[in-house]
Amino acid sequence: MAAPSSVGSTGTSWSKWHVALIVGAPVAFGIGYWYLRQSGNAGSKEKRSLADRSKGGASSIAATSQISLDGTGTEDNAEIQSSESLLKKALGCKTVGNEHFKAGRYEDAIKSYNQAIEFCPKENTMDLATFYQNRAAAYEQLKMYKEVQEDCSHALELNPKYVKALQRRAKACELTQDLPQSLEDITAACILEGFQNQNTLLTADRILKELGKVHAKEAMANRKTIMPSKHFIKTYFSSFIEDPITNSIKNESDVAEADLRGFAQAQNAFKKLNFEEIVPACTEEIESDGDNKFKALVLRATFYLLMGDHVNALKDFETVISDESIDAKLRVNALIKRASLYMQLEQPDKSIEDFNQAARLDPSNSDVYHHRGQVHLLMEKVKEAMDDFKAAVSLNPNFPIAYVQKCYTDYRYAFQSHDMEKMQEVMKNFTLAVKKFPECSECYTLFAQVLCDQQEYEKADSYFRKAIEVEPENAAVYVHRGLLQLQWTGDVNKAIEFITQALKMDDRCEFGYETLGTIEVQRGNLKHAVDLFDKAIPLAKTELEMSHLFSLRNAAVAQASVAEKMGIPLTSATGP
Ligand SMILES: *[C@@H]1O[C@H](CO)[C@@H](O)[C@H](O)[C@H]1NC(C)=O
Ligand SMILES: *[C@@H]1O[C@H](CO)[C@@H](O)[C@H](O)[C@H]1NC(C)=O
Repeated sequence: MAAPSSVGSTGTSWSKWHVALIVGAPVAFGIGYWYLRQSGNAGSKEKRSLADRSKGGASSIAATSQISLDGTGTEDNAEIQSSESLLKKALGCKTVGNEHFKAGRYEDAIKSYNQAIEFCPKENTMDLATFYQNRAAAYEQLKMYKEVQEDCSHALELNPKYVKALQRRAKACELTQDLPQSLEDITAACILEGFQNQNTLLTADRILKELGKVHAKEAMANRKTIMPSKHFIKTYFSSFIEDPITNSIKNESDVAEADLRGFAQAQNAFKKLNFEEIVPACTEEIESDGDNKFKALVLRATFYLLMGDHVNALKDFETVISDESIDAKLRVNALIKRASLYMQLEQPDKSIEDFNQAARLDPSNSDVYHHRGQVHLLMEKVKEAMDDFKAAVSLNPNFPIAYVQKCYTDYRYAFQSHDMEKMQEVMKNFTLAVKKFPECSECYTLFAQVLCDQQEYEKADSYFRKAIEVEPENAAVYVHRGLLQLQWTGDVNKAIEFITQALKMDDRCEFGYETLGTIEVQRGNLKHAVDLFDKAIPLAKTELEMSHLFSLRNAAVAQASVAEKMGIPLTSATGP
């Protein structure tokens, strides 16, 4: 949600849950492929065949792994005691160990399992695996996680599809911050259980989120700034109707370019969509202490914000906001933009504080309410969002973006409160909105998304087509059309065609990469999915968005790796 103002048109934040639902992937864990194979028509038969396939892989791994146990001492005794009676002894020790365990005497349980392991003949791999696994359970109770990991590893060498050992090692690794191993183990457990165990799935989801957060933090700290696409920037600025900078740019008459320096050059570059020139030109104005220094600061900060350079954006905004001698309109504009940046940085309290300060400085500025409404919507405060949009529209009834977002918020509210009558009314209001603002692509796309939600697919598609007519360069609409195809006809190839077209038009369309990646996960094309997520990640505007993308990527990587280890073919999938 780089620009909360463009939630609708870029489709990111609204579509997060929506994409997952449409594509059928259970939330963060991009396990669509497996999930479908399990829950599809084939049902339990499919599950069995998956288990069989993994069995093949498992036993071959078991056969090749040579286990060496320390201090077993069984070889010398082998001639005296038959292996059968040794196994009996070992099982007896295990039973004693289990009793200790149940009574909470974990040290004693460990001693008994030690004996069980010592007595157990090497060829009884399944029993031996159980003893290790049980000892790991006792170590777990004593919070000795290194030992838990070691014992689970022993158990898994003996029995690679030992789900309990996988789950236990995953937990221990999670607690010791070895998240990559934890993820691989829990993924293997999910696959072996055919994605039927809710607890394992929830654990997987949690580990993916943790690991995604770690990766996103690292990546954000090291990332290079990226200029978003021209369309994205235009959409961002079009969400302000009282922006003192862009409004004055619109009024500037053309001047010979060679004469332009500083802020004048920045304005001209803005007009010509030469966005790369803007930051240097503003810097020249600021450093020379020019007449338009403060406007230059706000414009530069806005571009820092759009490029993901949050530190410098905050610095410039602060300079303007803290100087009370500066024109209120300019400070309010800076406050609104900083508020949306705080939202990106997951500091909603600071964000709302800035909005409130902006509302005090300029209570009749509809941008304040419109953008605060967006933030409230992201915070799931639908009622507050509704009030904000109402205020924005009453201050400026002819601003199409605020108007249609009011409709959308009213829809969300009616939906949430199961008010069918209100829903009908909102649908009528949407129809009026697209009539009133026939040149506004956002009106068409938001209405279309709501129609999708209502399963009125044909009508939805007609509005997406209208959006493309008025704004042919809006790549996100093609992604939406692709998603619509999935919902409507289930035609994956057509969906992919649309999304591919979006990416051809805009190679910085994060929404497209993410959606296509999610579809490819579902089709079992995990490697291609990873490539797509890798393209989306640097384009993420916020750490939260990025950690979500890392979760998707990590899930795909883990599944590919586990599938390879278990010898499960992945490329046979034909899609949903
Ligand atoms: C730009 O021009 C319009 C009309 O031409 C005017 O209403 C508006 O106030 C001007 N804006 C600025 C910032 O000068
Ligand atoms: C529909 O629009 C009218 C006029 O703007 C408004 O008064 C009404 O509250 C809207 N209906 C809903 C359900 O939001």
